[in-house]
Amino acid sequence: MIQHKAGFGMKGAIFFSSKYGSTAQYAEWIREATDLPAFDVDKANADPSQYDFLVLGSPVLYHKLMFHKWVKRNLAGIMARPTILFSVSGAGVGAKLDAWLAGHLPAELFSHVQHIALRGRQDPKDLSWLDRLMLIIGGLTNDDPVASKEELKGFDFMDKSSIEPIVEKIVQLQGKALPGQKGT
Ligand SMILES: Cc1cc2nc3c(=O)[nH]c(=O)nc-3n(C[C@H](O)[C@H](O)[C@H](O)COP(=O)(O)O)c2cc1C
Repeated sequence: MIQHKAGFGMKGAIFFSSKYGSTAQYAEWIREATDLPAFDVDKANADPSQYDFLVLGSPVLYHKLMFHKWVKRNLAGIMARPTILFSVSGAGVGAKLDAWLAGHLPAELFSHVQHIALRGRQDPKDLSWLDRLMLIIGGLTNDDPVASKEELKGFDFMDKSSIEPIVEKIVQLQGKALPGQKGT
């Protein structure tokens, strides 16, 4: 593990993916609040092995985390580091969201991460034609009237204050000593 610039405490970074920008916005708010660097996982410079702890963020698209393949490719590195995972979705905290995430993430990873669910934004006019079509079909066939309306008409649940529990966890991790060092 590499040392923090000040020579003490754990050094972390944010790794995110985002299709329509809301997860990127949350990553940016977390970056501003904590000074952690933020990397889009699709960019070549996204290397989690350089950090002591990780903050991972991804939207839920079609009942899966968008970056689930990246997570699987980087599984060993993630499992070796304290990890906060934030999901961004239309659905709020609950059994439905937990089941989607657990269904597409390795079981050991799901129990390793500290998961925080944030709610995002969906504006029908921003969507690709295929996503728009899929969401219209989803909305017309969804038995849940609230979810159906959201799929058809969109929603905006973006809330800057919802990053606070993530920021608190990051501050706790930053305060932790590296192995072999005394804690504060
Ligand atoms: C094509 C598509 C599929 C989606 N599928 C789900 C889903 O399965 N469950 C859910 O809760 N939200 C779903 N959403 C809502 C997104 O999670 C939400 O819009 C999120 O803020 C998108 O993140 P992004 O702006 O970073 O791409 C979907 C949105 C889109 C556009």
